[in-house]
Amino acid sequence: SENQAFSNQIISWYRENPRELPWRETSDPYKIWLSEIILQQTRVAQGLPYYYAFTQTFPTVKDLALASESEVLRLWQGLGYYSRARNLHSCAKSIWNDLGGRFPSSYESLIKLKGVGSYTAAAISSFAFGEVKAVVDGNVFRVLSRYFGIDTDIASGRAKKEFEKLANQLIPEKAPAEFNQAMMDFGARQCIPKNPACENCPLQVTCFAFKNDLVGQLPVKINK
Ligand code: ADE
Ligand code: SF4
Repeated sequence: SENQAFSNQIISWYRENPRELPWRETSDPYKIWLSEIILQQTRVAQGLPYYYAFTQTFPTVKDLALASESEVLRLWQGLGYYSRARNLHSCAKSIWNDLGGRFPSSYESLIKLKGVGSYTAAAISSFAFGEVKAVVDGNVFRVLSRYFGIDTDIASGRAKKEFEKLANQLIPEKAPAEFNQAMMDFGARQCIPKNPACENCPLQVTCFAFKNDLVGQLPVKINK
C-alpha cells in the first residue's frame, strides 16, 4: 500500500542517515524521559551536554527524587523553561514515593506525568517499551502534509487529530521506535521548512508536493 511504501522509505532513509545520540543507546525509560523533556524546547546540540550532566549526576530516578530542588535547578541552568526542571523533580519524587520507584511503562500511564504530553508519551513508550504510538509535532505535520498532499491548515484545531490518525496508521507494528526516530530526523534534516533537500530525497518519486511543485505551499498555515 501507499502507507507501507512511505514507512519503508522513511525507515530506509533513516538507516542511511543515522544520528548517533546517547539516548538512542539505552532502553531505560528514565533516561529516555530525561532526554525527551530536555528536547521539548531545546535543540539537540544544546541539549546534549545537559543530558550527559543529568544522567551522570542522577543515574536513576531514585537519585533525582532524593536530590534537592536547588541542585536540580542548578544543573538545569542555561536551558530555560524552568518549569520543565521542576516537573522533572516532582515526577521523580512521586515515582519514587508513590510508585515504588517503578517507572510508568505505558503511554496511558506516562501521559499522566506532569510535563508529559502526547508527543513525549509516544516517544518514551515507543523507544523504551516498543509501544506502537506515533509522535506528532510540527516536523511530522510538515513531512506528512508534503508527502501525502494534505492541505489542512496546521494552525487549525482539527489538524492535530487528523495527522495523529494518519501517523498512527503509518507507524509499523514491527518497528515503532525506528519509525518515530526516522520521522524526527527526516523532518529535522531532510524535509526541512525552507528549501528542503528534494533533489537528493529518496521519497521524491512518490512525494505529492514534489510531483506537483507544491513544496513551497505545504504545509498550509493560515495565520490568525
Ligand atoms: N527531538 C525530540 N525528541 C528527540 C529524539 N529522541 N531524538 C532527536 N531529536 C528529538
Ligand atoms: Fe520533503 Fe522534498 Fe522529500 Fe518531498 S521530496 S519528502 S518535500 S524533501
